[in-house]
Amino acid sequence: MNNQIEQAVVLLRQGKVVAIPTETVYGLAADASNAKAVEKIFKIKGRPIGHPVIVHIADSSQLSQWAIDIPQDAYKLTKAFWPGPLTLILKKARFVPDIVTGSQDTVGIRCPSHPITQAILKEFGGGLAAPSANRFGRISPTSAQAVKEELGDNVDFIVDGGPCEVGVESTILDLTGKNPRLLRPGMISHQDIEKVLHKPVELGGKKIPRVSGALPKHYAPETPVVLISSDNLSHFVRNQLHKKKSLAVLSLQALPFIFKKLSENQLIWHTLPEDAKNYAQKLYEKMRALDYLNRDLMVIEKVPETAEWLAISDRLKRAAHTGAP
Ligand code: TXA
Ligand code: MG
Repeated sequence: MNNQIEQAVVLLRQGKVVAIPTETVYGLAADASNAKAVEKIFKIKGRPIGHPVIVHIADSSQLSQWAIDIPQDAYKLTKAFWPGPLTLILKKARFVPDIVTGSQDTVGIRCPSHPITQAILKEFGGGLAAPSANRFGRISPTSAQAVKEELGDNVDFIVDGGPCEVGVESTILDLTGKNPRLLRPGMISHQDIEKVLHKPVELGGKKIPRVSGALPKHYAPETPVVLISSDNLSHFVRNQLHKKKSLAVLSLQALPFIFKKLSENQLIWHTLPEDAKNYAQKLYEKMRALDYLNRDLMVIEKVPETAEWLAISDRLKRAAHTGAP
């Protein structure tokens, strides 16, 4: 067995906290059946107690250990999308610790596809509670290096599984109500889900329960972020440069000719891929890199308002939110 896998499993069995790679973002994992171990995750992240965490399992056969009253829809979805970036909210089984569920009667469960974490889960045998491996409110890490930058020595071990393939957090679907309801958009879209269930998925609407990713300000860099439409981008950038602002730009377009002569101290311009899947994979890595430059402003070009971009535009809006968290 791979050394990292073995080491991770040993530490997890001892109630320690280990950062693990998933296909979406890196997670900060602990034995989900061990309340004391899960508590350590909250301490390390600086996350308020009361925010539930997702339980990661090896495959859908373990669902019934963590949840009760599981509807047929859950199995249709696990068949279609697991292992993969879809989290299901179900009624929790009695033994699930309160710290995992935020004392709610529901539990979030997901089966990640990253091969290393699959191997860890199989070997470990139980469920792993794991929020994203960032400090509370910050951008999720999509590489082992980013976890190190976020958490330093506060975590017992970081498993390096390379860059994450999906790049934004899993889709969260609540299956405990009358109709399936999307709590957090992800790269599996509500339309993908509707195709499998042959019924409509409700989008938000009702007051969302304690989903920390649903706080207005989340996934935010320290640099102030503004979202600017494609048509206004050059104009906006020029105006800001006139005001002597130093800028970092994330755009779908190549660097416009008019800015080619500017120095890197004035303007850093990164171009992201034009398709949603490749854009998502790179987004957090780029935002993180630009944040480190400590510019006056991070300017991000708005993305299309179509279903396949929904997860991305959701994260961008949160990053740009300047109100109180
Ligand atoms: O892709 C992902 O989901 C990543 C990787 C590591 O698996 N995890 C992740 O975890 O994004 P976290 O804690 O950063 O976000 C999970 C979200 C939180 O907003 C949490 O409140 C919500 O899931 N959640 C967990 N259990 C819930 C429940 N029972 N009811 C409602 N929301 C829940
Ligand atoms: Mg998170």
